[in-house]
Amino acid sequence: MKVLGIIGASGHGKVVADIAKKSGYEEIVFFDDNPEVDYCGTYPVVGVTQNIFECNCHAFVAIGNPMVRSRLLEQLEREEKYVPVLVHPSAVVAEDIQLGTGTVVAAGAVINPGARIGKGCIINTCSSVDHDCIVEDYVHVSVGAHVAGTVQIGHHTWIGAGATVSNNLNICANCMIGAGAVVCKDIVEQGTYIGVPARKKV
Ligand SMILES: CC(C)(COP(=O)(O)OP(=O)(O)OC[C@H]1O[C@@H](n2cnc3c(N)ncnc32)[C@H](O)[C@@H]1OP(=O)(O)O)[C@@H](O)C(=O)NCCC(=O)NCCS
Repeated sequence: MKVLGIIGASGHGKVVADIAKKSGYEEIVFFDDNPEVDYCGTYPVVGVTQNIFECNCHAFVAIGNPMVRSRLLEQLEREEKYVPVLVHPSAVVAEDIQLGTGTVVAAGAVINPGARIGKGCIINTCSSVDHDCIVEDYVHVSVGAHVAGTVQIGHHTWIGAGATVSNNLNICANCMIGAGAVVCKDIVEQGTYIGVPARKKV
């Protein structure tokens, strides 16, 4: 029996569970530190985060906060838990794409040739990452966001819902790009950027 343990019984967890189910996992269980949560969708919460290490299952981190996601994924790797890459069957992923461990590609997302996606990334529903982009570890490209060709996105950066990143740009690590922002210049300083064109939020 192919079992997946998912850390994080949240809305994102529900999406990850659906993708896992469609990817051949027969049983899905959740682990969450909130004692008030018993279920995530139709799947049971069977323990707190640390219990996943006693479970004979594959493991996945479905937590939006990139710092928490990286800490937990690295712990899973240290403890040699098997962590899959999950790709929704409706995502369009070019043949030569590299996807790091613990990355999820959601329904309707498109990743074009030559792109490299690091580990623990979320390429969310109906987003796109175009040709030759380098998306470093723990980046989240939110629902409906679009990243044009040959863009580099630094680790732990979060591209908000519906944001657009123009081609040939670099966005440094640990940034938040607000929902709907349009990035048309390199971003070299960590921070939150909003608006059209995207400017640092004060
Ligand atoms: C940019 C963001 C991080 C700012 O969050 P915050 O620091 O809590 O900001 P606040 O909500 O307090 O808003 C502060 C001001 O910025 C404005 N603002 C917030 N987000 C904005 C955005 N994306 N674009 C333009 N203006 C924005 C607010 O309207 C508010 O303006 P006001 O002071 O005139 O009322 C957040 O609004 C955002 O866009 N998050 C992305 C969420 C997302 O994409 N989720 C996807 C899940 S898949």
